[in-house]
Amino acid sequence: MAEQIYLNHAATSLKKPSTVIESLVSYLQQNEENTLQRSFLGQGAAENAFEAREAVADFFAAKDASHVIFTPNVTTALNMILKGGLHPGDHVLTTAVEHNAVSRPLEQLRRQGIDYTRLPCDSTGRVDPTAIPQLIRPNTRMLVMTHASNVLGTIQPVAECFAAAKAGGLLTVLDTAQTAGFLPIDMAALKADVIAFTGHKGLLALTGIGGFILNETAAATIQPWLTGGTGSFSELAEMPPVLPDRFEPGTPNDIGIRSLSASLFWIKEQGVSALADKERALTRRFIEALHQLPVQVLGPDSSEERVPVVSVVPQVGSCDELAFALFSEYGIVTRTGLHCAPWAHEVAGTLATGAVRFSFGWDTTEKEIDTALTALQKILGS
Ligand SMILES: Cc1ncc(COP(=O)(O)O)c(C=O)c1O
Repeated sequence: MAEQIYLNHAATSLKKPSTVIESLVSYLQQNEENTLQRSFLGQGAAENAFEAREAVADFFAAKDASHVIFTPNVTTALNMILKGGLHPGDHVLTTAVEHNAVSRPLEQLRRQGIDYTRLPCDSTGRVDPTAIPQLIRPNTRMLVMTHASNVLGTIQPVAECFAAAKAGGLLTVLDTAQTAGFLPIDMAALKADVIAFTGHKGLLALTGIGGFILNETAAATIQPWLTGGTGSFSELAEMPPVLPDRFEPGTPNDIGIRSLSASLFWIKEQGVSALADKERALTRRFIEALHQLPVQVLGPDSSEERVPVVSVVPQVGSCDELAFALFSEYGIVTRTGLHCAPWAHEVAGTLATGAVRFSFGWDTTEKEIDTALTALQKILGS
């Protein structure tokens, strides 16, 4: 089989910059050397987490690093926010293109008396912020939305949506799974009360590390949903009142946290905009060539309006057949099916077919894009 070409960055980044790997190796070696002292004093993990909290706060322009909470991934973070911030009788706004990380907790909460409404959007999945004021009810508490669709690639007008939501007194929660590492994200400028993030996609950290950041409003509103030992305030029957302890029960993912410090350092060194410019150019090249092929391209036409995620549906044959041929004949890794986001496929009219998703990242090359295009031409016989 041909050399593997990995075009599934929207699922996970897979390869990591070498400085991230080196940092992890040296951290493990250093831990081994200092094990007794560090574990007795509990220093290693606390220092490591402190450094990473500072890096995350800096990355998302958050004011207070102690308000950065680590979780295993963004799914856990979103569950903690939704379940710790809503009560029976409440109503929530969300979008029609959410990942199951938002839609499934909302469905579960609906059965507990917490209603939700999906904001209308066009066929590319773009939400209309002007629709928000009419949809706010007296019991609406929150707007939770993804920054960009993991199927359609569409970047949402988050600042406009959150401004409308704040005018109606809602708590604003942003899922940055597909944008962190691609778009600069300034928590206050976007009017986000909560930023939820996952480490292993565009942030280039290991799997098993993610989290959320709370501003003061959110910190005063959200209750701990996950509870347990924190290694602090052990005499209290309830979770400690201080952050981050209040939301971080259980032993942390120390090495995952370390990987996040290292990957954020690397991203900062490269510059988010420089990384994004490169990925945007690859996306443009890919979409322009796709117009000559017998496929339907989902999402917005312009690469300026999307993250580097491009889903296609072949005019002939199934998505599964196409994805299988790409992999078995050309070693090209894509993702077929519904991508954990049936709502987005409903919007695109592809719930029955699914789509083949190509997604690009920091190590994707022009040559790989061209190889994927040639493979598509040959498989689709055009
Ligand atoms: C928009 C969006 N939200 C949430 C998630 C869930 O991410 P994780 O599995 O890291 O929790 C994903 C992953 O594909 C996603 O694309």
